[in-house]
Amino acid sequence: MSKSQPHGGQLINRIDYSYNLAGIYKEVELDKMALSDLELIAIGAYSPITGFLGSEDYNGVVHNMKLVSGHVWSIPITLPVTEAKASELEIGERVKLVHNGVVYGVLELQEKYAPDKQVEAENVFRTNDLAHPGVKKLWERPEVYLAGPITVVNRPKKDKFAEFHLDPVETRKVFAERGWKTVVGFQTRNPVHRAHEYIQKSALEIVDGLFLNPLVGETKSDDIPADIRMESYQALLKNYYPQDRVFLAVFPAAMRYAGPREAIFHAMVRKNFGCTHFIVGRDHAGVGNYYGTYDAQLIFQNFTAEELGITPLFFEHSFFCKKCGNMASTKTCPHSTEDRVILSGTKVREMLSNGIAPPPEFSRKEVVEVLIKGMNVVTH
Ligand code: ADX
Repeated sequence: MSKSQPHGGQLINRIDYSYNLAGIYKEVELDKMALSDLELIAIGAYSPITGFLGSEDYNGVVHNMKLVSGHVWSIPITLPVTEAKASELEIGERVKLVHNGVVYGVLELQEKYAPDKQVEAENVFRTNDLAHPGVKKLWERPEVYLAGPITVVNRPKKDKFAEFHLDPVETRKVFAERGWKTVVGFQTRNPVHRAHEYIQKSALEIVDGLFLNPLVGETKSDDIPADIRMESYQALLKNYYPQDRVFLAVFPAAMRYAGPREAIFHAMVRKNFGCTHFIVGRDHAGVGNYYGTYDAQLIFQNFTAEELGITPLFFEHSFFCKKCGNMASTKTCPHSTEDRVILSGTKVREMLSNGIAPPPEFSRKEVVEVLIKGMNVVTH
């Protein structure tokens, strides 16, 4: 397969900087997640979605991972408000979407409905445990969902790494200019360690380009901050990747930690950014022990290749094997666990904030230098 079509066939564009706000008086305050979703809908990253989901689409997504149109969609994109706020608003009216006093968009209110959060949690997160960060967030958000098409009238300011914020039309243009017919997308919320590098480069052996697309929206507090990660990605790409085969841009969405469901969502979004392939490794978008190591790969079996429109590339748990003397996975290495350099995320973060460098078999020295410097600024 070559050249990716947007999900639903057409990139959605819901931006109108000359939108006339006269006569719209009511406002809804967005939290950070809703603000990032608003912008991602408007730029077409969530195509074919044009607004916050109504109850039919929402139920389709929660129960069957499908929109009413039949398109695959696995994560509900919702706008929760309090009951008091919802009762102030009338169906059919337009409402300003505001964050910290700034108007970013307008919602044409078509519906207000109360979701069954228990069911949403069980289906989307496969658990109702409040210790799960995605479930916790779901219950923390208010109880009524507003729905309808949106228009963005003003883009959130990009205070950090502005040059790495590109819209799907722009990344598609970059890929076309570079002559890439096949592009593999890589989602990450972590520094890129040797295992990530190994699976990216394995994919690069069979496609034209790598789109390194770290998520920089809201993450849980113990994840490594996005600005430190961005510096580490640049150090890595500069030293170890062919410049004409990689492209780095950020994905400003909030992390859901929905594991398998989020892997589908991540793939659909990267398809909109112009990817033909998408990497899913071990425990993609997972947290704690809520998901099986390869559940995020198995979930793709629910859909046909046509429905997905992007080819997932699955990778097994990868590591450096001292006996092999190279990176490998259980598919390629016959040796025992003791021969393998495997460190948990928690262990790595602990080492970095104590100024201890993980071994070079685990992480490139240029990456480690950036992380130690960055983590010390954060923790001390
Ligand atoms: S995620 O939450 O964004 O998925 P992370 O940044 O750790 O977390 O992972 C990015 C991608 O690399 C995911 O597809 C994940 O499955 C994969 N991955 C991470 N570590 C490994 C590993 N050791 N072996 C194979 N795949 C991995």
